Amino acid sequence: MTEDAYRLKSPDGSELELPVRSGTVGPDVIDIAGLYKAQGIFTYDPGFVSTGSCESDITFIDGEQGILMYRGYPVEQLAKHSSFIEVSYLLQHGELPTADELSEFDNTIRVHTMLNEGMLSFFKGFRYDAHPMAMLSAIVGSMSAYYHDEMNASNPAHRDIFAHRILAKLPTIAAAAYKLNVGQPFIYPRNDLNYTENLLHMLFAVPAEPYEIDPVAAEALDLLFILHADHEQNCSTSTVRMAGSSGANPYSAIAAGIAALWGPAHGGANEAVLNMLEEIGDVSQIGKYVEKAKDKNDPFRLMGFGHRVYKNFDPRATIIREMAYKVLEKLDRKDTPLFDLAQELEQVALKDDYFIEKNLYPNVDFYSGIIYRALGIPTSMFTVMFALGRSVGWTAHWREMIADPKGKIARPRQLYTGPAARDYVDVSKR
Ligand code: ACO
Repeated sequence: MTEDAYRLKSPDGSELELPVRSGTVGPDVIDIAGLYKAQGIFTYDPGFVSTGSCESDITFIDGEQGILMYRGYPVEQLAKHSSFIEVSYLLQHGELPTADELSEFDNTIRVHTMLNEGMLSFFKGFRYDAHPMAMLSAIVGSMSAYYHDEMNASNPAHRDIFAHRILAKLPTIAAAAYKLNVGQPFIYPRNDLNYTENLLHMLFAVPAEPYEIDPVAAEALDLLFILHADHEQNCSTSTVRMAGSSGANPYSAIAAGIAALWGPAHGGANEAVLNMLEEIGDVSQIGKYVEKAKDKNDPFRLMGFGHRVYKNFDPRATIIREMAYKVLEKLDRKDTPLFDLAQELEQVALKDDYFIEKNLYPNVDFYSGIIYRALGIPTSMFTVMFALGRSVGWTAHWREMIADPKGKIARPRQLYTGPAARDYVDVSKR
């Protein structure tokens, strides 16, 4: 260990050499795994701001340059040339499929879309106004009860089937949750349709009349799913890895990931953006809300702005913005005022010193909600849409984590700030 080591000087003057490891691209990491044993000291990094939690081959992000790559392929190229199903194969298997592999994979996903009929009866237990994210998490968690016998995590074939089921069945569960909310009968999947066409069919078809699938809507959803498919060790993916690291049933680990995604600081932001735009209501109010966002004493934040990793621009936001124009133009929806408001807000914030100094730019969720709204998808379903795309990243990361021979249960340490040892006082003397 010479230049590849990081030297740490302890208060007693002794030096410890910590190995420095390099990835394919991106910053090096200091391997601190041996630190506690050698020095009896932990590192402290709430929110994992400077901490890598694992080694991964799946996705690379450069937040300064605005780069996102899946298995080395820039997301812009995948968004332009690929499909969500092909990207799903890439994330799962590490390489782009041949034509035969793609056709076989596509067919496998199509033939796994139905739910066990018993699972549909779960929905009857929910209130008509249950949040679809709550239903999605609960029903996916219940898959561990349905598929428990066929899930031996050390069997690669079982891991494959698990990933196929999650990808194929999540749209059916999501659509069933939506149908419960709107009081319409569940619509069964149609395996002759592609992934996003089938989703639109299950969401919007009714038994009383034929439903025509809009190709622009299917294309827009496919693009959104590609852009949401993975984002390395984000909160929900880390949750899936962490829950799965105990050896928990992987369907439960995905349910935990869905719960983590729901928060407004993560996947819930797309819903929060629409709610915020509706609250702002008119371009004349933008100044007032920008001031609120800057006020330290006001908890209001501009939803859809800022990102833990992207400190320059979010490449996904740039692609989505273009698609938002296309969708609004082709579908001729009446949401143009909301889109105009979003664009004006973006311009005002981008010119404001507060947002410039803190590197706060629109993130992926700033425009995705506008597209969903234009497609007729209700606000409460926005984060569910995000979950459908991200589900492929979750299963890819779970597979990578579980197959890693160096894998350990995730178990962080802490800086304890509670009372020092003290003696129990009998209740009569307190
Ligand atoms: N509006 C106003 N101020 C903001 C915003 C915002 N949207 N985002 C960050 N700031 C400010 C913070 O107040 C903080 O100011 P300070 O340094 O004076 O205390 C500074 O910018 C840094 O913010 P942090 O919260 O420390 O940054 P962090 O990396 O922890 O948070 C996050 C990133 C959670 C995305 C944050 O920017 C945010 O809350 N954004 C709004 C919610 C959102 O859009 N989330 C979606 C993320 S993308 C995704 O998950 C797909």
